[in-house]
Amino acid sequence: DISRTAERADMRVYLIGGIVRDLFLERPNDDIDIVVEGNGIDFAEHLRTDYGGSVKMHETFGTASWIHPSGLYIDVTSARLEYYERPASLPDVELSTLSEDLYRRDFTINSMALCLNPEVFGDLVDPFNGQADLRSKTIKVLHNLSFIDDPTRILRAVRFETRFDFLMDKQTESLALNSMARMRDLSAHRIVEEMKRLFKDEDPPGTIKRLFKLTFWQQFGVDDGSAEQSYIHAGQLKMFYEIHKPPAGQKARWFNYFAIPFFTSKKMYLMSQFSLTKRNNKFLQDIRNLSDMEGVERIREPGEFHRFLKHYEDEAIIFMIAKENMENEDIITSYLKRRIDMPIFLTGEDLIREGMKPGPHFRGILLDLEVAVLNGEINSRDEAVEWLH
Ligand code: CTP
Repeated sequence: DISRTAERADMRVYLIGGIVRDLFLERPNDDIDIVVEGNGIDFAEHLRTDYGGSVKMHETFGTASWIHPSGLYIDVTSARLEYYERPASLPDVELSTLSEDLYRRDFTINSMALCLNPEVFGDLVDPFNGQADLRSKTIKVLHNLSFIDDPTRILRAVRFETRFDFLMDKQTESLALNSMARMRDLSAHRIVEEMKRLFKDEDPPGTIKRLFKLTFWQQFGVDDGSAEQSYIHAGQLKMFYEIHKPPAGQKARWFNYFAIPFFTSKKMYLMSQFSLTKRNNKFLQDIRNLSDMEGVERIREPGEFHRFLKHYEDEAIIFMIAKENMENEDIITSYLKRRIDMPIFLTGEDLIREGMKPGPHFRGILLDLEVAVLNGEINSRDEAVEWLH
């Protein structure tokens, strides 16, 4: 579609950035970015005229999104605008040629473009040799100031390393180390956004370790020495998620991983430097309460934990286990497993039906029942009714 419109509109049109990288890596990517040598907004309008859908304009940036009738988003930017076409109110918006657009990007593997015009369809524009770096699995910046321009790129580099099993080249890694202190200049919001993306990827324990090596955590007050413990702790959490597979997105997994280095350094208070949601703060509070809880280490039956831990999230309990190195760790783990699929044999309604007078004591009875179920003493509804009498 785009190719035919490019021909009709007589504009050079390129696929650019992450989508080109992912095409070569044969990985799925719905983020379609195209660049036209000409006016991007005009080109998006051409696409709409030819194929329907709708156009969203972002005039200040000279860009537009064409929304294909199927709902797919295609972002269109302008690589070159004639002088008179520049938005007059914004003289400092820089508009440039395709190569300059590529030069402003983060890594060589993200700085390639594929021409979409029919006569040269598939021609690769690769001024920084991104192809070779894809082959050698290397993340390489285009110039020495790249991380100074934008320190979040260091986090992007780590993300691509883990996601594709690539590595930064020596020069890029040493630039990352040297620019790491700039991370502190970023807003809490930007760090948090990058953390969300970083901990969505395949290997959170590896990511945590790598960020220690690059001194990311240390910028925010975490101790150097807690790297190993954080790695182990993250591994436990990952294993938990693999076994229990809570619905994706339901829980703030990224946050739980993000909290680990602060937790293992015993410096959770430092997390207040990131603007946290109520939910995040509640989680931190729960971990603190659990760490202070007395008597749990003496418990020997899964059900007994329930009296202490009923109202705590699974992940908070995992934090407690990781910290205390408890002797009865296996029992807590089996408590967690049983609790996740604990059957409900009786409800308050059932108690009334069994002739009991409703009241606040119901809560205690139902808790005792849950404890007995978790201990394996009650295994069916009939047994529960019998237990009641
Ligand atoms: N980019 C950049 N510097 C940044 C962010 C982005 O140079 N700090 C450039 C990269 O060339 C990247 C493109 O903008 O390819 C699009 O960014 P984005 O969609 O965030 O990244 P993708 O590379 O598409 O990665 P992902 O697959 O994770 O979306």
